[in-house]
Amino acid sequence: MQDVTNLWFMKIVADYGSPDYFFTEYFRVRDDSRLNRKILASITENDTNRPVFAQMIGESIPDLVRTARELCQYNIAGIDLNLGCPAPRVYRKNVGGGLLREPEKVDRILGELRCALSDRPLTVKMRVGFENTDNFYSILDTINRHSIDLLSLHGRTVKEMYRGEVKYNLIAEAVRWLNCPVLANGNIDSAATALKVLSQTGAAGVMVGRFAIANPWIFNQIRQALQGEEIAAVPLVEVRKYIDRLRQTPEALKTPLRARAGHLKMYLNYIALLVDAEGNFLRLMRKTQTEVELLKLCDRVLLNSNENLALAPYSRD
Ligand SMILES: Cc1cc2nc3c(=O)[nH]c(=O)nc-3n(C[C@H](O)[C@H](O)[C@H](O)COP(=O)(O)O)c2cc1C
Repeated sequence: MQDVTNLWFMKIVADYGSPDYFFTEYFRVRDDSRLNRKILASITENDTNRPVFAQMIGESIPDLVRTARELCQYNIAGIDLNLGCPAPRVYRKNVGGGLLREPEKVDRILGELRCALSDRPLTVKMRVGFENTDNFYSILDTINRHSIDLLSLHGRTVKEMYRGEVKYNLIAEAVRWLNCPVLANGNIDSAATALKVLSQTGAAGVMVGRFAIANPWIFNQIRQALQGEEIAAVPLVEVRKYIDRLRQTPEALKTPLRARAGHLKMYLNYIALLVDAEGNFLRLMRKTQTEVELLKLCDRVLLNSNENLALAPYSRD
């Protein structure tokens, strides 16, 4: 996730129990683009012992091929193409989710990338469509035709952004249609949801985005649930310690003092809602102006409570 799943965040998540694979933030690819050094560090300095896929976003075929070849010189699990980003400033340039309007172009891009990466895994991250799902099956056919190695599928359209129900039924359709494994993505907010979605879709795994920011324990919890083990509750005092870790990364410490609260709020936007679903913590934290004020609030909410991080109930039955 852009600005979030950088090297430092990956290291922190790894300490709480890594996912099986990481995906980098996207490398923006243009005719004059060079590999972004900060994103590259999440590959070259990654000591999590988990494979990392390098994600690219762009539409110029020669530049995508050039960038993929450059990335292959590093220790990556494979190249992932972003066909899902819903930000209007992105899709208006016909990249990310914007490309889902042009199945022929997707066909050409994947064909050329497959040729260039014949011996390396090539994966795709996408949504179920742009405005509707008219192109869904033709893009799935393209994925089969070019022997894509893995599809991560967010079960919403680009225009839906993060609103509305996730169409897990379409993820199940993709699982049936495709020759490659599918990761189900969208609103995997707990181990209980992961288990439900895996059984509903038949997907090979789940991809977790926002709820890994809110609850970095989630990957271990999913593993425990898959093995039928009881999931240990996470006391809020541990969440407070997690917030301190986010505050103390070299990247956070380099942030000018006046911008530190904003930097931390980027993560707290997700954490606060899992701590307090009614939104009081979120509202109060958004009103804080300085990092000191923000941390005082975190102490008040998280250290004076015997509660645990909210988890959707998980039943072994
Ligand atoms: C802040 C933020 C940044 C994101 N950046 C990326 C990205 O660079 N590449 C990508 O494939 N998806 C990106 N996403 C989308 C997520 O990978 C995921 O598809 C989406 O959040 C839905 O899954 P979730 O409900 O588990 O969060 C981003 C999402 C958020 C919230």
